Amino acid sequence: MQINYNEQNRVFKIDTEHTSYCIGIVDEENFVGHIYYGRKLSDDNLVYLMRTGEPPFVPSKNNRDRTSFLDTFPMEYTGHGLGDFREGTLMVRTAGGHSGVSLSYVSHRIYDGKEELAGLPATFGMADTCRTLELTCEDKVLGLQVILSYSIFADNDAIARSVRVVNGGKEALYLTKVLSACIDMDNEEYEMITLPGSWARERIIQTRPVLKGKQGVSSVRGESSHQEHPFMAWKRKTTTEEAGDIYAMNFVYSGNFMAQIEGDQSGSMRALMGIHPQDFCWKLEPGDAFQAPEVICVYSAEGIGGMSRTFHDLYRRHLIRGEYKDKKRPILINNWEATYFDFDTDKLLAIAREASALGIEMLVMDDGWFGCRNDDNSSLGDWQVNEEKLKGGLKYLVDEVNKLGMKFGIWLEPEMVSPDSNLYREHPDWAFAIPGRTGSLSRNQYVLDLTRQEVRDCVYDMIASVLRSANIEYVKWDMNRQLSDMGSCGLPADRQGELFHRQVLAVYELQDRLTREFPHLLLENCSGGGARFDPGMLYYSPQIWCSDDTDAVERLSIQAGTAMVYPLSTMGAHVSDCPNHALGRTTPFETRGYVALAGTFGYELDVTKIPEADRAMIPEQTAMYHKYNDLVREGDYYRIAHYAENHYYDCYEVVAKDKSEALVTYVQVLNRPSHHSRRIRIPGLDLTAVYVIENAQDWPEIGQTEYRGDALQFAGINVPPLWGDFKGRLLHLVRKQAM
Ligand code: GLA
Repeated sequence: MQINYNEQNRVFKIDTEHTSYCIGIVDEENFVGHIYYGRKLSDDNLVYLMRTGEPPFVPSKNNRDRTSFLDTFPMEYTGHGLGDFREGTLMVRTAGGHSGVSLSYVSHRIYDGKEELAGLPATFGMADTCRTLELTCEDKVLGLQVILSYSIFADNDAIARSVRVVNGGKEALYLTKVLSACIDMDNEEYEMITLPGSWARERIIQTRPVLKGKQGVSSVRGESSHQEHPFMAWKRKTTTEEAGDIYAMNFVYSGNFMAQIEGDQSGSMRALMGIHPQDFCWKLEPGDAFQAPEVICVYSAEGIGGMSRTFHDLYRRHLIRGEYKDKKRPILINNWEATYFDFDTDKLLAIAREASALGIEMLVMDDGWFGCRNDDNSSLGDWQVNEEKLKGGLKYLVDEVNKLGMKFGIWLEPEMVSPDSNLYREHPDWAFAIPGRTGSLSRNQYVLDLTRQEVRDCVYDMIASVLRSANIEYVKWDMNRQLSDMGSCGLPADRQGELFHRQVLAVYELQDRLTREFPHLLLENCSGGGARFDPGMLYYSPQIWCSDDTDAVERLSIQAGTAMVYPLSTMGAHVSDCPNHALGRTTPFETRGYVALAGTFGYELDVTKIPEADRAMIPEQTAMYHKYNDLVREGDYYRIAHYAENHYYDCYEVVAKDKSEALVTYVQVLNRPSHHSRRIRIPGLDLTAVYVIENAQDWPEIGQTEYRGDALQFAGINVPPLWGDFKGRLLHLVRKQAM
């Protein structure tokens, strides 16, 4: 891990263990250009790559064609309105209504460690594990400073980038676009990977060519969303799971975003990521600063899998915090799919009694315990216990659950208000609304204007007093509608364009307050399933509910897409009842367990009502969770085969960091008449070791139980067909001896 500045050729070189990132300062005007990102290089004399000797030359030598220069030069962070006609990163409007920006290098600072980003989630590192470069650029005409920040880590190949904009002038300025990162490079016929989806089908892997013109993903829904995801990667056509170049960006933010690659006229491309400029306008008074959120950039020469493992390690070590950062999570049972709104103390205790006897460790009471909420049409905002349902009160219920040796968790949706609630009747102006318009309802609820301090304080006091009233050790923080009708009584007209971002900052502030007051609380974020599964949320909660679709087959795709970026330790995954509530499919209980083991693991069913044979399997499943969870949480993840591609079977693996063991999950989704077994190669192992299939009794048809690491990795093993659809098996490989 090194950051150097070569004063002679004016090149900054940022080196992680396996990658280099180079920035050059050119011309008398000190333009900041992007030179190189990729495999680690020893050479820092790369100015020749910047094409400053080719037409259209640099402006000082050829001001006649200044726009041609600005429109082709590989910018590190772009201006706007002066001749770079590609999509840019920064747009500023002056009080006079003009909008040009041009940035020039002024100074830099290289320091150990990494500073926090005020009010925002971000990766962190200590002085001995992290190093930062800050490049200060300026637009002299506007009196605007732009500080580009790059942090690297001793134990990871990612680069964390962010941007701070400071108004050093004498007049207020309006920032109408502040993206967080830009990478200009030649388009070597790349393919772009994104993770689009919908409700109950989040983060489905999609690949398309990077063509000339703009291709991208975005959200203007006020959250990272079900529909698109703040992630994009671009790779060579020949890049596979385990080999080849791939670049990626992931946004540490939970609101509106844009991520785009633009192929330009000359065969280059520009990749951008940041807060979506739609409806964004931030007033910056003289002396004020605007901090744009962080983008994580990853390059890997080890294929898509190498990129995923870099993100996983970074997030596990440098983003997720708190008591459960490196800890096994309690196996929970959630009553949502078990009872929906129809529950009371007796029903919950009956579930808890049965569950505790089977090895389940926590009862989570979902939606419906407060106000008069018996369906989703009322009471959000009235965070008082409904004692008609919970006879004896919340504390009684929690104490009874605790007596069974179980923890207790609760569901909250603090950002919302139902029109039919005491809170809304008392404070109708606390919901976002545009004067003169009928507010758009979604799931019959409005969004609270948390940009107002008094609203934040009131909501916080209500939810904190519930948490103080009993021994509540887990919160599922939900958010069940997207943002519209953005108007606030709390801000003047020229600050209404700040609302989307201020609302995200407010949610961060609330979760920060909550986790500070209740440091032992396990927080799980959720948004209509997985609409806010992003690194911003992971800074506050070590796990996020992945999807409302709990069907084991659908989950193979949802979890594969999620694990493209996020470690398995973060993915909320439960065994639920069948026929599945999202799509009516029936899969074996056993397979549902295998698939949920790749996440946080828990149950979402009425354990008093499921078939006896299924119930009898639970002790075995909870034992498996305890046996494998350290490996699943901390190990290296490999995608081996994906059902969405082969329409037949799915296979993935987690290997211990020291390669002493590996867990392979195989799900044969659809059976086919077959005369022989299927070859599977098992990567990531110690090539010189012998591995034993420790649970060989679970799949005796495999036959041989000992294999060499190199044979497993390069030749593979033959897995026999399983009889029927949706069948699965686990293979636990344990290293026997080094050769
Ligand atoms: C969302 C969540 C579900 C459940 C319901 C309750 O849809 O994703 O898991 O909590 O809300 O209303």
